[in-house]
Order: sequence, then C-alpha cells, then structure tokens
Amino acid sequence: MGKKRMAPVRVWADGCFDLIHFGHANLLRQAKLLGDYLIAGVPSDTETLTHKGLNVFTAEERYEIVSSMKWVDEVARDAPYCTSVEVMRKYNCDFTVHGDDTPVSVTGEHANFAVIKAGMYREVDRTEGISTTDIIDRVLLKTKAHHIDELNDVSNSQPCSPAFLKKMKQFSSKKKPKLGDSIVYVAGAFDCFHVGHVKFLEKAANMGDFLIVGVHSDKVVNRYCGENYPILNLYERVLILMACKFVDEVIFGAPLILNHDILDRYKINLVVQDKDISFEGCEPYKLAQKRDLLKVVDSGSSLTTEQIVNRINERRSIY
Ligand code: CTP
Ligand code: C5P
Repeated sequence: MGKKRMAPVRVWADGCFDLIHFGHANLLRQAKLLGDYLIAGVPSDTETLTHKGLNVFTAEERYEIVSSMKWVDEVARDAPYCTSVEVMRKYNCDFTVHGDDTPVSVTGEHANFAVIKAGMYREVDRTEGISTTDIIDRVLLKTKAHHIDELNDVSNSQPCSPAFLKKMKQFSSKKKPKLGDSIVYVAGAFDCFHVGHVKFLEKAANMGDFLIVGVHSDKVVNRYCGENYPILNLYERVLILMACKFVDEVIFGAPLILNHDILDRYKINLVVQDKDISFEGCEPYKLAQKRDLLKVVDSGSSLTTEQIVNRINERRSIY
C-alpha cells in the first residue's frame, strides 16, 4: 500500500504591509517556509484606521504590492485586523503566522487572541532594524544617517550589513538565465517600493525571460533627487526588489548611465524604460538606443516616490 498523501498546509499571515519593507517580506518568507500555500490577509483602509491608524499606501496599492511578493500565493482583500477563526476557516487555513511583536486592537486586546486560543497561531522572529514608523520618521526628520556612503562600506554601523548579507542569501531565488533566454534590464532608485514600481517590473518581466534590475547607489540617487533621498538605503531597496516575484537578479549600485560593460557582461537583449523617465541633462539609455536594445513602455502608473513622501509630509500633524 502506498503512503497516504498529506494535505497541503495552508498558512495565513496578515498585516497592513504599509510602506512595504524587507521586514514584511521576511515575515512572508518565514510564513511560507512553515507550509505549502500562503495567503496574505490585508485589511482595508477603514479597518486599519479603526485599529491602528492611517496608512500611507491605499488598500488597493497594498493588495497589489503584497501579491507581488514571491512567497505569497494569494491575497485575501479586506481581511479583519483581528484574525478570527472564521476567516481562517473561510480560507481553509491551518494556522496564522505573525512576528513576535504584540499587535493590539482598538479594544486593547491582542489582535491574534482568538487564533491563539484556538491553537492556530505560530510566531516567528520579527526583523530587526526596519519598520514603517522608522521610514516615516526618516521622511519627517529628513535624516540621512541610513545612507551608505560607499558601496563597499559594510562596517557594523551600517544597519543592514551582516544581517543584510544573511537576508540576501535567504531572499535569493538563485535563478540563472538559461541558454537562449531573452534578458531584460531595467534600472532606477526603487525607493519606497510602490505600486508604480510593481506595475513597471511586471511589464518589463513579461517582455522577456529573465529580468535584471540595476539599483543606483545612495550617492547617485541623492545626486539626482537631493534632500535626504533615498529614504531607503541601497541594501534595503535591493532586499525588497529581491522579494518581488518579477525580479530575477539585482545589480547593486548600477551606474546611472548604462554602459557597454553592463550590457555585455549580463548579455542583455532588451533595456526597458518608462515613458515618463527624465533626467535633466543626461541620457541614461543613449547606448542602449544606439545598439537598438531600447524599448519605451507605459507602466500604467504615474505614481512617484516623491508623491509618497508628499503624502507623509501632508499628514505631519497626525504622526
Ligand atoms: N514584521 C516583521 N518585522 C518587521 C516589521 C513587521 O516581522 N520589522 C511583521 C509583523 O510582525 C507582522 C507583519 O510583518 O507579522 C505585518 O506587520 P504590519 O501589520 O504591517 O505592521 P507592523 O508590525 O506594525 O510593522 P511596521 O512596524 O513596519 O509597521
Ligand atoms: O523612480 P524610480 O527610479 O524609483 O523608478 C524605477 C523605475 O520604475 C524607473 O525605470 C521608472 O521609470 C519606473 N517607474 C514606472 N512607473 C512609475 C514609477 C516608476 O515605470 N509610476
């Protein structure tokens, strides 16, 4: 007699996932490792407002961003902030996974109280050194302490260094392009990873077989954006990109002006650029155009990092 096949383990992980960062991604990664199928429960804006506060990203944005995370199989929209046994049953989930912080509802109760009582709760380590509140503070206080001065600077004072290297390994899909694959290249800052980035990356990924993303260093981004940009440093921006299902490989500190070295070393067949991109006084993709590799697309979103930063600054008084 053959072995009885076990039913797939269905895991639930909920959260607001506002201003999504690598801490959220690491939670989703750990949750997926505990089972076979991961459902991310994302509450609406009114539900979050009742229990926690105002989000920077809208619910529609959060649904789309969370569903772009490579460990997520399904997003449950309009999920309850307080995880209920009913919602777990509705989605046929075995247990819920949460970081080891204590989310509190508007009534002052642990938001996972019902599932803890029902024995349907697992806790994993919360990721140190990053939070939505911290990102908001960087914007409001215009701090630059998170910037990495040089690409090779991995001193302990840099928030992500040893931990970052570990996370890079954990986040990596170790995918390599196959012979004959069409390799697509895009580049940018990808600061405050938002829905415009997701739409653009999805479009670019669908134009070939293997998507490489060049991420500009903090110095380069600061040179063209000014103030305290980037709000997320290179390591933090790279990690959330590595967590995105459309991205196959990331190049750290890619040059602003795309050069022969990148095109040849990575055997790039296509360079994709959004129609709205503009860098005053410089043409980053001139070479790609000359080599007939450039394709201009419309990401379908006009959202920018600056608009996200403006949303935060406009609500300064409520923080
Ligand atoms: N999480 C984590 N590590 C972080 C931040 C969040 O593991 N640095 C986890 C939380 O424990 C939770 C999930 O990510 O299981 C979703 O968190 P969310 O509801 O979005 O809010 P917070 O925990 O408040 O996250 P943040 O402080 O960044 O807003
Ligand atoms: O602005 P940033 O450098 O972060 O953008 C990264 C990439 O995503 C760029 O190629 C940019 O043109 C693209 N993008 C987009 N649609 C948006 C925002 C960014 O196509 N709404």
